[in-house]
Amino acid sequence: MKHQVRSVRVSLGERSYDVLVGHGLRAELVAMIPEHARRAAVITQEGIPFSVDPGVGYEVFNIGRGEEFKTLSTIETLCRGFADMGLTRNDVVIGVGGGMVTDIAGFAAASWHRGIPVLHVSTTLVGMVDAAIGGKTGVNLPEGKNLVGAYWQPSGVLCDLDTLATLSAREMRCGMGEMAKYHFLTGDDLLDLELVDRIARCVQIKADIVGADEREGGQRALLNYGHTLAHALEIAGDFQLAHGEAVAIGLVYAAHLANVLGRISTARVQQHYDVVGGLYELKTALPPSDPELLLSLMGRDKKALRGLTFVLDGPSGPEVVAGVTAEAALEALGQMSEAK
Ligand code: GLY
Repeated sequence: MKHQVRSVRVSLGERSYDVLVGHGLRAELVAMIPEHARRAAVITQEGIPFSVDPGVGYEVFNIGRGEEFKTLSTIETLCRGFADMGLTRNDVVIGVGGGMVTDIAGFAAASWHRGIPVLHVSTTLVGMVDAAIGGKTGVNLPEGKNLVGAYWQPSGVLCDLDTLATLSAREMRCGMGEMAKYHFLTGDDLLDLELVDRIARCVQIKADIVGADEREGGQRALLNYGHTLAHALEIAGDFQLAHGEAVAIGLVYAAHLANVLGRISTARVQQHYDVVGGLYELKTALPPSDPELLLSLMGRDKKALRGLTFVLDGPSGPEVVAGVTAEAALEALGQMSEAK
């Protein structure tokens, strides 16, 4: 039986591109290579059991595993490798991996010769439903996650569902954290859909938001639902908590905070527990952490242009709320600790 393939367009004028979702899609890569490309730099990681053949001469660059390698130093190493192989601005970078790989491949492509095409072959659930789509690229600093980067849209994205069979339960949970986020942004019952349609629907939700607000002047910020505390927890815990696991906790925290601010009822907070912990089977308990440290890390969030800023649920659904007081943020942390 021929596997079904879904195609979702990210509409950005002349920078529009397709995201293909389905099984056995690795073979489609050749058709996505830009016409003028003679060489490709394939960026991936050891242990990703998924190789590609772009149909032009290529070199493979393995980057380290773990957030400690998501640095400017890795970008420098890659760009020096591009110089060695003589990669030109007609050529192409291909990221094959999860969110870390596609963030780094995208930023290296954005920087090399001031920008060359990049294609992503996403190999994780979190990459397929979020990181590989929308053109956010970048690396971390000791001061925070993804603080240095660029918007650089890929020319195409392949979400080959064959790769999902290679993921650990933990990696799958990470994708589920981002899916739970889409549940609250749209109210969609994503788990009711077949896998290919579930992923394609998440891609479509993100594509619609990115198409309307590429540079996060407005509604794209909603994609950060649950992420303010999540990023703080990741940093405070030295990245022991994976991103999607942190997002799951962050979603429930955002509900507590919205409740503290009188935006939603306690029944709606309970719905967050029911969806994140129940339907999506993710852990919601706040790990042992210093509330003052979390507060200070949340204050460094990129959204925090006018004081502590969160995406919070309310009578009209999630929206960006600036100027949240430290007292309210701490009270919500306290409520979560008690809810354990
Ligand atoms: N991951 C959030 C965004 O792409 O805007």
